[in-house]
Amino acid sequence: MKHIFSIFLVLFFINDIQADTDKGEALFKQHCTQCHAINARLVGPALKDVHLKYDREWLYSWVKNSAAMIEAGDEQAIAIYEEYNRSPMNAYEGILNDEDIENVLLYIESSGNDAQSVDEGEKVNQSEEEDKSYTLIITIFLILGALVFILDNVKNTLKSVAKEETENIPQFLHKSLLMFSKSKKFLFLSFLLLIVIITNAAWEGLSSVGVYTNYQPEQPIKFSHKIHAGDNGIDCNYCHHTARESKHAGIPSANICMNCHTYINEGSVDGDKEIGKIYDAVGFDPVSRTYIEGYEKKPIKWIRIHNLPDLAYFNHAQHVEVGKVKCQTCHGPIEEMDEVYQFAELTMGWCIDCHRTNSVQYDENKYYENHLTKLDKNSKHVHVEDIGGLECGKCHY
Ligand code: HEC
Ligand code: HEC
Ligand code: HEC
Ligand code: HEC
Ligand code: HEC
Ligand code: HEC
Repeated sequence: MKHIFSIFLVLFFINDIQADTDKGEALFKQHCTQCHAINARLVGPALKDVHLKYDREWLYSWVKNSAAMIEAGDEQAIAIYEEYNRSPMNAYEGILNDEDIENVLLYIESSGNDAQSVDEGEKVNQSEEEDKSYTLIITIFLILGALVFILDNVKNTLKSVAKEETENIPQFLHKSLLMFSKSKKFLFLSFLLLIVIITNAAWEGLSSVGVYTNYQPEQPIKFSHKIHAGDNGIDCNYCHHTARESKHAGIPSANICMNCHTYINEGSVDGDKEIGKIYDAVGFDPVSRTYIEGYEKKPIKWIRIHNLPDLAYFNHAQHVEVGKVKCQTCHGPIEEMDEVYQFAELTMGWCIDCHRTNSVQYDENKYYENHLTKLDKNSKHVHVEDIGGLECGKCHY
């Protein structure tokens, strides 16, 4: 009994720590990613192992007010300040308390080790893949059946060949072909096989007309979401901030890249080649670290991947901010992609499916107050469909 109790206690603690790291992650993304990454130098130092470099109390007071420590003559504080050319860090006094900072530190400690997985999106695709594997299994069965039959025939033929040794090879071939074509079972099986193959191909062909899942064009700069959003934990909103406010998620301008790439001149994969293209776009000289005067900026020509036809209306803010749908539900595990590909079909059926099955999160959601006078407020299952999510006019101009 005692043991069981302590197991529970341990589980409880593990859960608790996980919750704290999650809080820390949110705070880190909100306040720190603008200048810090875990594994790379940005405006400020990489924060991996920072908990080994200083003691806890030092870190608490640094984050609260680093300028005060520098002024007070703290040696470690002055050292790092000088190393970063006296660029000041924000003060979080009154914004973050010790517990918040502890959670951020827990997140920093933990994120060196584990890569986060996003399996939510994968589930969406599962049923589709099950369908495919069914046809595959049937096809394999038929092929195997045919194979057994053929081998059986060959065996018989060989037997008879052995009997009549005088026969030569062409005759042997001729004979076996004749046998095959006479066998009704074999003909039937081949016919079936052919039908299965043809319908399968036709189905796949038809259902992918105008559907571009996995569309993955080569971009003008090898920009990797894995390096940025994955390894360095930069929040999607840092670059796609309009997703919360407007119809479009938008692609960041080169100026946003320069917030960090003024300092980061080389990547670990492609050296200065790809990052050099950003400098080329904005006219930045990495040697003198200055912008070239009178330079005519060249916008980076990103190739658009997701694209609905003009007849359909889709709004990011409505889904991300009001509907609380995660980016990854529709775009897949972006933070693991070196090159972005189209994850979802973006067909009308895809939109409708989700609107039928997804509950609206209407708790504390002003947007729904009007709707809720009409709907049953106690119902736990108000689907998007119930608030008009299947009306043609909502999605078509
Ligand atoms: C506006 C940019 C900026 C923001 C935002 C920022 N920092 Fe910093 N941070 C810096 C700079 C620059 C340094 C290097 C020291 C200096 O120049 O003051 C630094 C240094 C540090 C150090 C010391 C690192 C070392 O290796 O010595 C820690 C720890 C730190 N920051 C934590 C944080 C945390 C936690 C947050 C978020 C709550 C945060 N910083 C937000 C710019 C920033
Ligand atoms: C450092 C900036 C940056 C961050 C952080 C970032 N992105 Fe991007 N994103 C870009 C750029 C630049 C492109 C255009 C190039 C490309 O497609 O790779 C892009 C393209 C995309 C596209 C494809 C757009 C199209 O053409 O249809 C999607 C979807 C996307 N990002 C989602 C995300 C999600 C989700 C996250 C967070 C997990 C994220 N991005 C984080 C910069 C960023
Ligand atoms: C918040 C900081 C930040 C922003 C904003 C940012 N990057 Fe980066 N970028 C990084 C970090 C960190 C690395 C990793 C450097 C390394 O490999 O050590 C990096 C690496 C790269 C690399 C090199 C990859 C390699 O390993 O060769 C390219 C190319 C790149 N970024 C392009 C962009 C583009 C284009 C944008 C703007 C759309 C952008 N970055 C915006 C932080 C940033
Ligand atoms: C409910 C599904 C859904 C969610 C959630 C979603 N997107 Fe999208 N996203 C789309 C669709 C559909 C398009 C194509 C829009 C079009 O062509 O008008 C798109 C297009 C984009 C594009 C291309 C540029 C643009 O604005 O059209 C980017 C970048 C993007 N999404 C990023 C994000 C980010 C970042 C998030 C999370 C903050 C996110 N998306 C959440 C469905 C979604
Ligand atoms: C993964 C789930 C999901 C997918 C996929 C999705 N939606 Fe939605 N959609 C929602 C949720 C949740 C809401 C409710 C939030 C709200 O009303 O603001 C919503 C609401 C809407 C609304 C507002 C409905 C109303 O009555 O106010 C429109 C319009 C809409 N979606 C269009 C689209 C289109 C177009 C697509 C496909 C390109 C799409 N949605 C795909 C989840 C989804
Ligand atoms: C939740 C959003 C949504 C709703 C509701 C919706 N549609 Fe659509 N519809 C779309 C999207 C997105 C496309 C584009 C799909 C594509 O490109 O494959 C589309 C495509 C179409 C097309 C095909 C146009 C073409 O070029 O092939 C027709 C026709 C259509 N819708 C009619 C309707 C009618 C009629 C209704 C009402 C019964 C309706 N839609 C309701 C999102 C919606």
